[in-house]
Amino acid sequence: EKGGYEHFMFKEIMEQPKAIRDTISPRLRDGKVVLDDVTITKEDLEDLDRLYVIACGSSYHVGMAAKYILERLLRIPVEVTLASEFRYCAPIVTKHTLALVISQSGETIDTLAAMREAKRLGARILSIVNVVGSTIARESDDVLYTWAGPEIAVATTKAYSTQLAVIYLLGLYFADRLGRVTAEEYSRLVEELRTLPAKAEAILKDTEKIQYYASIYFNHNSVFYIGRNIDYAVGLEGSLKLKEISYIHSEAYAAGELKHGTISLIEDGTLVVALAGWNELFEKLMSNVKEVKARGADVIGIACENHKEALESLVDSAMTIPEVDPMFLPSLEVIPMQLFAYYVALMRGCDIDKPRNLAKSVTVE
Ligand code: M6R
Repeated sequence: EKGGYEHFMFKEIMEQPKAIRDTISPRLRDGKVVLDDVTITKEDLEDLDRLYVIACGSSYHVGMAAKYILERLLRIPVEVTLASEFRYCAPIVTKHTLALVISQSGETIDTLAAMREAKRLGARILSIVNVVGSTIARESDDVLYTWAGPEIAVATTKAYSTQLAVIYLLGLYFADRLGRVTAEEYSRLVEELRTLPAKAEAILKDTEKIQYYASIYFNHNSVFYIGRNIDYAVGLEGSLKLKEISYIHSEAYAAGELKHGTISLIEDGTLVVALAGWNELFEKLMSNVKEVKARGADVIGIACENHKEALESLVDSAMTIPEVDPMFLPSLEVIPMQLFAYYVALMRGCDIDKPRNLAKSVTVE
């Protein structure tokens, strides 16, 4: 049942290209995104004044990436809220609000409760769910299913990736309907989306290097993930993956925040994972890398192939991914992050599929 692999998590990491493909291909027709299952009209869209993303854990991290993606494509403000906070933050919800509820299981109690509150306040609910017929799916106005298939490992991988895929579809679909994207830009992005599974596949072909890096760093006890913008959103997910299954303390920071406190924690041997996929911000990230290296940190860097040489000259361990439009970076950058967490946990002898104190679906508050 583990497809010949030692752990479900590894199997599910490997299944990601297929899961992404299964999620996007039925919704791409003749170079267009078609979302038959969404009943929101053009008029409803034009009336939207804000989007709320409501989710927990990794699904919340998809929301963090979604903010960058959807605000860029739609120019509508996107608020990302932890489901457990939503009911206590006096959310500004009206009938012009669309609540995007993201959940693999469709049963997370905090997410469900927040969704009900958003509905009570008048929001329209669009959920992104993996489990067909789950409570969140049933109670939503519209559902976009992620076709990841059953996810067994507690640490989510393929569900996260398919949730992102749905965000791309949704962003492109809404942007097109609202006329907020030029025809050329739209076609270019749809084509990039179509080729994303193949790029993910290419990254998964080269796991040895990541395994080797894990063997160098698995004994570290403090890891910081730094990035800017969408790279920061991926850092949050990378950090959660690592702490969840390897029990190593880790945190993610927006790289520009280092100077405002975190840098005091950097000392000889601290591990920093620098996410520099967004080409425009590469130099900025590299200056952060120099700052942490000067204080003794070991640095793993990740960037697009066009920056391979520069990256290799500045970091201790470099990983590269194929070049993509920045909005698709999370889908590619997350793969080395997942594999790194996996191999580190493996080398530390952890119970990878069932980490201590955690449940696959959190149905109590
Ligand atoms: O089923 P959900 O997407 O609602 O679950 C949300 C979180 O509990 C979940 O993403 C959790 O953070 C994962 N174990 C992370 O790998």
